[in-house]
Amino acid sequence: MKSDTTAGLHKRAAIDLAPANWYFFHGMFAAGTQTSPLREAPPSRESIADWPEIAQSVAPFLDRVQQQLAGQVEAFDPEIAPYAKYALANHGKQLRAALTGLAANCVGGWNDSAAKAAVIIEMVHLATLLHDDIMDGAELRRSRPTLANKWDNTTAVLVGDCLFANALRLAAEFPTTDVCRAVSTATRTVCSGEILQNNHQGNLALDQAEYFKMLRMKTGELFALACELGGSLAGGDPQETRALREYGMALGTAYQVYDDCLDLFGSEAEVGKSLGTDIASGKATLPVILLCEQAGHEIATQLGQMIGRWDADQLNILRGWLSEFNTLEQSQYRLESCLAEAREALGKVGDSAHRDALEELTHFLAQQSVELGVG
Ligand code: IPE
Ligand code: MG
Ligand code: MG
Repeated sequence: MKSDTTAGLHKRAAIDLAPANWYFFHGMFAAGTQTSPLREAPPSRESIADWPEIAQSVAPFLDRVQQQLAGQVEAFDPEIAPYAKYALANHGKQLRAALTGLAANCVGGWNDSAAKAAVIIEMVHLATLLHDDIMDGAELRRSRPTLANKWDNTTAVLVGDCLFANALRLAAEFPTTDVCRAVSTATRTVCSGEILQNNHQGNLALDQAEYFKMLRMKTGELFALACELGGSLAGGDPQETRALREYGMALGTAYQVYDDCLDLFGSEAEVGKSLGTDIASGKATLPVILLCEQAGHEIATQLGQMIGRWDADQLNILRGWLSEFNTLEQSQYRLESCLAEAREALGKVGDSAHRDALEELTHFLAQQSVELGVG
């Protein structure tokens, strides 16, 4: 894990996000300059733990979660089991599950209850993805055809419903109603965030406040729940549990900004899911919001007309504008301030040795976002 030298580099990165620098950044963007000379160099790539290294500290926890998740296929009717198996096997990085384990380790160490909470959260997440891929018209998820693509939309809607219901059934097995209530509330919030996003489809005048509200709802909430339940089920006190929730909310928001940037600036072959789907379906994400705010009426109108007849050519035109107005750099800056918030919340939890992995995660995400602009 992290050496002392690395910790020092990380401290420098946090300083880099100090509000005073914001003004320099903004000034440089307004002047149309590519990068700010006042920005300190980020920590070197080699000094930042990557995801496998961070997840390593909860490897037995994630194995347990994965086993239990796969075991849930048996809860379904044999005719439904192949769909459930397909959906549940698509576990990706298990970021939310890892957060539950890492948050639990911050306060008292993970236990069976935290593992069960992680299974529930992962299941809710997989259910939202089944529905999301239909709404977004995505064909690929984690390098495989989406469930809707492999079978059909009706099946994917209903399998998603089954997963939601099954997650709540598991949550109802806890001795008190607290976990079930928390999971239900978070699930309602996530789906409500998706509805808000759908309502704003085609609205290129969406403002940043509304955008960030949607992000907190559709993504931040489940990250927050993962950290909160990890903390509370491992015996964290209410103050620590609240701080872990805040960390999760800020990290999840940053993660969604990254995901939104990936959709515009990533490469499909590397990412393993359909890209360009946000703008193709009229969704204004942060880079596009910044572009519309700063590029003036003509470009915003042209972009509005381009949506609806979307193809690779339109995406290339958009990418040209996005680059001209430094929207990736500005989005990275917003993402980094969310990560600074996450680190601040983490400062209120346990002792520094135990929260190390959660801190590493913020630096890893910042680095991933920086790499979007490279090459
Ligand atoms: C995923 O949202 C679904 C939720 C967060 C509920 P997005 O549509 O923005 O993310 P990807 O790109 O499909 O993973
Ligand atoms: Mg999507
Ligand atoms: Mg979506």
